[in-house]
Amino acid sequence: MKTASTFRELEPEGARVRVRFSGQDLMLREGGNLAAELLAAGVTPFRRTPVSGAPRAPFCMMGACFDCLVEIDGVTRQACMCEVGAGMEIAMPAAGRDGDA
Ligand code: FES
Repeated sequence: MKTASTFRELEPEGARVRVRFSGQDLMLREGGNLAAELLAAGVTPFRRTPVSGAPRAPFCMMGACFDCLVEIDGVTRQACMCEVGAGMEIAMPAAGRDGDA
């Protein structure tokens, strides 16, 4: 889901590429940190927990908490460990998409 972001880009210049998050087109900075770019674009939550369906978004930004898990082109990955690339198809991981366990 995309909402108004509370994050501000420090360097808004630079080439942007189109990616899709849960079917929604976004223009993100090419080569930027995917988690930071999604937050700046207002995307939250990134996933939902498998058991309770609680919303999750990036917390540590260094690969430790796994709260930034997303599905990129069908593979579940940590968004904070990925760079933005043109044409990425991003979605919530399957277990949390519809609140299913
Ligand atoms: S934000 Fe913690 S692992 Fe990505």
